[in-house]
Amino acid sequence: HEIEHLREHIEHYPEKRAGAIYCLYYVQDKYGYIPRASLDEVSELTDLSPTQLDELITFYTLLRRRPVGRRLIRICDSISCYTRGSEQVLAAAKEASGVEFGQISKDGAVTVLPSICLGLCDRAPAGLVDDSEDLGELTPEKIRDLICSYAA
Ligand code: FES
Repeated sequence: HEIEHLREHIEHYPEKRAGAIYCLYYVQDKYGYIPRASLDEVSELTDLSPTQLDELITFYTLLRRRPVGRRLIRICDSISCYTRGSEQVLAAAKEASGVEFGQISKDGAVTVLPSICLGLCDRAPAGLVDDSEDLGELTPEKIRDLICSYAA
């Protein structure tokens, strides 16, 4: 069981709170995001308050509090990408997904999120799929095609 596994894991840390990030990633791997109930459980295990955990989640941009579509597309809107047209790419992505940023498309296929710098500035405008697949030199057409290819 999830909580038992985490409890055992936490015991290896000299300080419980040091295991918090591990717990949060573990929960996210399991559910695709970090549900409120799990936040409370992790809080109990690590002696960090839910508010402190929330701050960690905000800081670690790969962690998320809400469910997402089968594919999560992040599109950078930091300066290098912005000056090379990320605004148009984001607008096209939002239109193709049919919902607001952060929401799940009707068919459950995608969630689009604007992101801070993804470290792919040399390929601006850049994006990232499922926190692992790099997207570079994005254009509105490219992102539209990609999103359509994910449709159920
Ligand atoms: Fe967009 Fe760095 S500014 S990836």
